Amino acid sequence: MTQHVDFPNLYVVNHPLVAHKLSYMRSIDTSTRSFRALLRELTLLMGYELTRDLPLTTINMKTPLCEFEAPVIAGKKIAVVPVLRAGLGMADGLLDLIPSARQGHIGLYRDEENFPVEYYVRLPKAEGRLFILCDPMLATGHSAVHAAHVLLKHGVDAKHIRFLALVAAPEGIKAFHATHPDIKVFVAALDKGLNEHAYIVPGLGDAGDRIFGTK
Ligand code: URA
Repeated sequence: MTQHVDFPNLYVVNHPLVAHKLSYMRSIDTSTRSFRALLRELTLLMGYELTRDLPLTTINMKTPLCEFEAPVIAGKKIAVVPVLRAGLGMADGLLDLIPSARQGHIGLYRDEENFPVEYYVRLPKAEGRLFILCDPMLATGHSAVHAAHVLLKHGVDAKHIRFLALVAAPEGIKAFHATHPDIKVFVAALDKGLNEHAYIVPGLGDAGDRIFGTK
C-alpha cells in the first residue's frame, strides 16, 4: 500500500492480486456473477489493508499448553456504511472480514446537476466507532464528500472515518481532499480522469448496473 504523494489522505492498495482482479472487473466481457464475486474478493483484500493499523489489546488466554496474553482488536467498535446502491457490493466483503461490525446505510441520488441528495440515512451510534464508508467509484467526489459530511453531522470524528473505493478519478480525490483532508481514502486504482458524462476512464462502467445486472 502506498500513500499518494499529491494527496496525503489517499492510499493506493497496490498488490498483484488486487491489480489482476480489478483488470477483470473492468472488462466489458465480465458477467454480473463474476463481477460481484471479484468485487467481494477485492473488498476482502482492500479491507485487510484498511484495517492494518487497528489498535490491539491483549486478553488472557489458555492454550492447551499454557496461559498467555493474546492480542485481540481493541474496542471492536466498527461500522460498515455502504453508500447505496453500489456500496452494497462492498459491504458483504467487509462484513466477512469484520463479522461483529454494525451496518449503516446512506442513500443518495443525483439531481439534474449531478449533485447528491439524501433519500435514506440510518446509522449506528457514533460511540467512538470506526466508520468504514464504501462506494466503488469515487468519480466527481460529490457523493463521497456528502456521505462523509453525513457521518460528521452524525457526530463521528473525521479520524474515525475511512473511505473505501475501488477506482477513483483525480478530480474526485482532489474534491474529497479539499473538503475532508483528515479522512483517509483507500482505492485499488487512481484512473486517468472523467469523461463528459462524469464516468471514470478507463474505469469499469456503471458499478451499480454491473453489480446488480441492471441497465
Ligand atoms: N459511477 C459509476 O458507477 N461509474 C463511474 O465511472 C462513475 C460513477
